[in-house]
Amino acid sequence: MSDKRDPPPFYERHVFFCTNERPEGHPRGCCKSKDSIRLRDYMKARAKEAGLDRLRINAAGCLDRCELGPSLVIYPEGVWYSPKTKEDVDEIVATHLVKGGRVSRLMMPAK
Ligand code: FES
Repeated sequence: MSDKRDPPPFYERHVFFCTNERPEGHPRGCCKSKDSIRLRDYMKARAKEAGLDRLRINAAGCLDRCELGPSLVIYPEGVWYSPKTKEDVDEIVATHLVKGGRVSRLMMPAK
């Protein structure tokens, strides 16, 4: 048995924001067609303004929840959101990322 321990987390929180693109008419659609790139860029800017320097917001490939998108997931909590507007992003930043709360109305169902 090893006595090695995991190092402390490098980031306090890590957001993966799907920016996957599929061809027009694909049956599952895609997050890019639901404005996810603009919303992700907006979230990055708001988080920076809020001084969240131990947070990382990464563009992600498909997270396999396409029909509910635009899709993002926040770790370590593992909470999934579907923000449709900049106002939705503002609420996630202010409530979840700054205060550690939850925005129930924007959370994806568990399954
Ligand atoms: S395309 Fe975004 S979750 Fe699949």
